[in-house]
Amino acid sequence: MNPRLVVLTGAGISAESGLRTFRGNDGMWEHENIDDVCTPEGYYRDRKRVKDFYNFLRRGLKEHEPNAAHFALAELEKRLGNDFLLITQNVDDLHERAGSRKVLHMHGDLNRLTCERNPDHKFVFTEDETMDTVCPFCESMSRPDIVFFGEPPLYMDRIQDALRQCEEFVYIGTSSVVYPAAGFKSFAKSYGAKVTCLNLEVPENDPYTDICIQGKATEIVPRWCKAFK
Ligand code: OAD
Repeated sequence: MNPRLVVLTGAGISAESGLRTFRGNDGMWEHENIDDVCTPEGYYRDRKRVKDFYNFLRRGLKEHEPNAAHFALAELEKRLGNDFLLITQNVDDLHERAGSRKVLHMHGDLNRLTCERNPDHKFVFTEDETMDTVCPFCESMSRPDIVFFGEPPLYMDRIQDALRQCEEFVYIGTSSVVYPAAGFKSFAKSYGAKVTCLNLEVPENDPYTDICIQGKATEIVPRWCKAFK
């Protein structure tokens, strides 16, 4: 069943929970080299370094709590049921901890590992991954369930179907520079959806965005969710 409302979130929704965004001042990619920790080449060059990087991020999740924007989206899901779909580029678990039940983590999930041999083998994993951690289904070496640059994002068939059918597409807390997520607004718009942006910085004269609401996620998202009919 296709949802009436599709929401895409990015790192900005978790910023007020204390998680670093990727770009901009003091962003993750100012501190880490993307080629080393977020590409297949970097992973196969030095698996331990990459596993340790995501172990560090996974451990850090426990120190952060969902904020009012995550809770507002979980409430909206309860109210709209199957008319609502949440897609996130985030690999944190703050949407789930706020009560969201159906979350498509299109860039992967820190609390999951996958298998080097068979990417369909995915399993929940909340400890530190070591060089000895193996896939429980086939015993091949595990890897973080993170979509590295150059790899196809997850759930794309389901996402495209939803974007084709929805009445409204809303993107929240994302710089909209990483494709294919950055193209969702134009795709949804071409199929007739109304497109709304909720972000700290909003695009000027963006031909694909009908409504822009500028502000902090914890302030504008609860207000917007409450008003959604
Ligand atoms: P970015 O770091 O690129 O963008 C974060 C956006 O959030 C920016 O537009 C900020 O203006 C906005 N923002 C910051 N604080 C905010 C707040 N309190 N309230 C509302 N908005 C706020 O993060 P993403 O767009 O999520 O991929 O990045 C997309 C992908 O690039 C990530 O999923 C990650 C990264 O490389 C992978 O790792 C595969």
